[in-house]
Amino acid sequence: MKTHKIGIIMNGVTGRMGKNQHLIRSILAIRDQGGIQVSPDEKIEVDPILTGRNENKLKEIAEAYGVEKWTTDLDSVLADDAYQIFFDASTTLHRARFVEMAVKAGKAIYCEKPTAVETDEAIRLAQVCRDAGVKNGVVQDKLWLTGIRKLQMLIDQGFFGRILSVRGEFGYWVFTGHDADQPAQRPSWNYRKEDGGGIIIDMLCHWRYLVDNVFGKIKGVSCLGATHISERVDENGNKYKATADDACYATFELENGIICQFNSSWDIRVRRDDLFVMEVDGTQGSAIVGLRKCWIQSLGATPKPVWNPDIDQPINFREGWQEVPDATNYENAFKIQWEKFLRHVALDEEFPWDLMEGAKGVQLAELGIKSWEERKWMEVGEL
Ligand SMILES: NC(=O)c1ccc[n+]([C@@H]2O[C@H](COP(=O)([O-])OP(=O)(O)OC[C@H]3O[C@@H](n4cnc5c(N)ncnc54)[C@H](O)[C@@H]3O)[C@@H](O)[C@H]2O)c1
Repeated sequence: MKTHKIGIIMNGVTGRMGKNQHLIRSILAIRDQGGIQVSPDEKIEVDPILTGRNENKLKEIAEAYGVEKWTTDLDSVLADDAYQIFFDASTTLHRARFVEMAVKAGKAIYCEKPTAVETDEAIRLAQVCRDAGVKNGVVQDKLWLTGIRKLQMLIDQGFFGRILSVRGEFGYWVFTGHDADQPAQRPSWNYRKEDGGGIIIDMLCHWRYLVDNVFGKIKGVSCLGATHISERVDENGNKYKATADDACYATFELENGIICQFNSSWDIRVRRDDLFVMEVDGTQGSAIVGLRKCWIQSLGATPKPVWNPDIDQPINFREGWQEVPDATNYENAFKIQWEKFLRHVALDEEFPWDLMEGAKGVQLAELGIKSWEERKWMEVGEL
C-alpha cells in the first residue's frame, strides 16, 4: 500500500468552526475512516497537530477527541517538515498574519473565509501564496451541502427550463444575551466591525461562490445593510455596542439575466423549512432548497391560484411539492472539500477554490457595503 501521510497544522480549533466542522467532522472523521482510499493500493492519511494560544483549551480538546499532538509554539511546527498543510480557522482579522507566516515556511495553505475584510488585502494574500508557489484553498462549503447538490443535479438535468429568479432567505434569531438563561449562540466579535464582524462580510462571501458556481456570474449588486439591534451582551456577561451590520438585504444581477435576492439576518425567527432556504423559479419548474432537503414543482403540477381574501385559501400550497429523494450517501460538506484539498496536496489533483477565488467573496461583500453607504448599484468587475 502506498501511503501519503499528510501532516496538518490546525490553528484556531478551539473556536466554533475550527473544532466542530474542521477538526471533528472533517479531519478526525477522515482519520477514523482510515484515511482517503485513492485506489486499492494507495491512500492518504492525516496527521493533525492542534495549535493556538491557550494551553488548557488545546489540551482539553486533544484529550476529548483523541488527538495526540498539540502545541502553543506555532513557530516550531511551522519549521517542521512533517507538516505540509497549515489550516487556519482563527478570527478573520488574524488570517493574514498566520497565512503569511505559513507561506514563508513553505506550507500549503487552507483557511476559512473570509480571507480578509478588504478586497485589496484578500488579493494581496492570494498573490503572496501564488508568488511563493504554495498550494492554497479557501473554505467554500455551501457548494457541497446536500440540498445544493440536489439542486445542481436538477439544473444539470434541465429541470427548470430557463431559470428566472432565485430568492435566498438565511437567518435565525441570535439571542442578544440580555434575556435570562439565553446567552448568545454566536461569538460577540461577529457584532463588532472593529473585530472583523458583520453579516455582510460573513454571508456575501458565501453568496458569491454559491451564485457564481451554481447560477452564473454576478455582474451587479445592490445591498442595504442594517444594525437592527444596537446593544448585545458578550461571553463575559458585559454589555457592548454592536457596531457591525446584523442584517442585509441584497440583490444580485447576473450576466445571464437571472435575478437573485438574498436576505441574511441574525434578527429573524424561522417559519420556513430550514435556516437557509432558496427558492429557484424557472419556466418549467421550481425548487425549494434547504440545507439537506429539496422540493420541486413542475409546470404540469403548478396550481392556478385566484386572489380572493374573503375566503380561506382553498389550495394547500405545500401539498403541491414533491421531495427530491436522496441519490447517494451525502457526507459533511466541509469534509468533502477537505478531501479534495488533501488530494490536491498529495496527488496534484485540480482544486479551483483558491485564495483568489476567495477574494471574489470579499470583493462582493465590500461592494455590498459600498452600495449600502452610497445608496446605489455597484458593478462587480474582474479582479
Ligand atoms: N464556512 C462557514 O460557514 C463559516 C461559518 C462561521 C464562521 N466562519 C469563519 O470561521 C472563522 C472563525 O469563526 P468562528 O465562528 O469559529 O469564531 P470563534 O470566535 O468561535 O473562534 C475563533 C478562533 O480564533 C482564535 N483566535 C482568536 N483570536 C486569536 C489570536 N489573536 N490568535 C490566535 N487565535 C485567535 C480563538 O481562540 C478561536 O479558536 C471566521 O473567519 C469566520 O468568518 C466560517
